[in-house]
Amino acid sequence: MIARDGANISLWQQTTTPYIPSRPVITEKVYDVVIAGGGITGISTALMLQEAGLQCLLVEAQSLCFGTTGGTTAHLNTLLDTPYNTIADDFGKDNANLVAQAARNAINDIKTNIARYQIDCAFEEASAYLYSQNEKQSEELEAIRKATLEAGVPAAYIHATPLPISFHKAIEVKQQAKFHPLRYVLALAKAFEDAGGSIVEHCRVLDTDNTDPVIVKTEMGDIQAKWLIYATHIPPGINLLHLRCAPYRSYAMAVRLSDNSYPADLSYDMYDPYHYYRTQMIDGEPYLIVGGEDHKTAHTDNTNASFNTLESHIRSNFNVQEIAYRWSSQYFEPADGLPYIGHLPGNPGKILVATGFGGNGMTYSTVAARILTDIVLDKENPGIKLFDPNRIKPIAGFASFVKENVDVAKQLITGFFTKEKIDAIADIAPGEGKIVQLEGQTVALYKDEGGQVHTINPRCTHMKCTVAWNISEKTWDCPCHGARYDANGKVLTGPADKDLEKINLQTGTVSSANH
Ligand code: FES
Repeated sequence: MIARDGANISLWQQTTTPYIPSRPVITEKVYDVVIAGGGITGISTALMLQEAGLQCLLVEAQSLCFGTTGGTTAHLNTLLDTPYNTIADDFGKDNANLVAQAARNAINDIKTNIARYQIDCAFEEASAYLYSQNEKQSEELEAIRKATLEAGVPAAYIHATPLPISFHKAIEVKQQAKFHPLRYVLALAKAFEDAGGSIVEHCRVLDTDNTDPVIVKTEMGDIQAKWLIYATHIPPGINLLHLRCAPYRSYAMAVRLSDNSYPADLSYDMYDPYHYYRTQMIDGEPYLIVGGEDHKTAHTDNTNASFNTLESHIRSNFNVQEIAYRWSSQYFEPADGLPYIGHLPGNPGKILVATGFGGNGMTYSTVAARILTDIVLDKENPGIKLFDPNRIKPIAGFASFVKENVDVAKQLITGFFTKEKIDAIADIAPGEGKIVQLEGQTVALYKDEGGQVHTINPRCTHMKCTVAWNISEKTWDCPCHGARYDANGKVLTGPADKDLEKINLQTGTVSSANH
């Protein structure tokens, strides 16, 4: 099974054969491009650059598709989460048109890859249905329909949707798509290696020297590269992008129905957060996939409650035979509604980044692959300016967005905690974690399956925010910039690149973090 950054198992993980890269370690020390991140963005970009004749190395801190690519629900859209009326208001109508064209080109690039490499990933074109359920939403829907059309994406009112859910008004946008994301991405990884590219897993990028060539410092030694691309969602280190992207979690379930009434196409309601629906056939078996209940990472006390709410929503609208899979995943919401693709802010040289895809990661991954490739090849692409991470958009709400994201705990762990004191407050089940207050200090506790309590410093090793326990995924999640750690404090996803510190109960000391 494909490994992922949480305890819950997604539909995709269980139905994909892992791809084992041919190289266990880095063999060469000089490359044209090093790509950090083995999800859909990194692998799509690596393949495009390798095909263009460059020598590329892709390094992944864990294993391929460990992050959000294994937890997506894989909608491919030109009807995007940030509506075209918002994009037109904030960036102008011409740019709304450019965004629509970039999304269309991305879906075409994916289709081309599937045909060229004969990828069996159940790709299907589908319509997207967006429907309102009250007057206010209907007004909003009309504004979206008008702006979507103006952006060059045909959108028309229709009288029925594929869902058994009543609605006020609905629009249909044709030529969207859906697929099995892991089967697609792992086939691209193979194509990349077949084209002469190198993939090395379990190798984290630790640091860089922003020189020319860039010195990329990894767990397997230093590498020289003409370009470094961070395809890690949010880059490591401390960067302007950490203030411009907020981490969110979304919840999904793959369901078997008892009456076989699986809805066709892709559907979306208009609540905030909204629900999204589609059906995927996998090896002859249909699954209804429903997602929603999104919230800012680590901003809810009980992530199981989000699953419960989603399950009752599904059961109230469909005849559920079985909830086959349930999982959650993380995405990054950009401050002004568009992704950040291009030069890493503060690094005008040869370090590039792609992040802030919101809920459209599958589509924007391939938009990013094309833009990053064109930057490296010095080719013109109107998206280079539009998606530039260094753009400054003075938009309403930006100040509060930044403030919300600065959630830094001030305290240090300085106390001496005995095992008896810890056991006295560790009223948690084996396999669970908890943040507790002890002698005026905040401490993270995790009780392992053997009943032993581990004491962890809850300060995130990125910028010292206090992590929160995610009960459903069994992880420690950071509310500030989305770093995530396993129950024992081992880093799962960046921007942190060091483990949470352990507090030694015998000595009262805090052990230094390891990579
Ligand atoms: Fe930045 Fe935790 S991810 S402080």
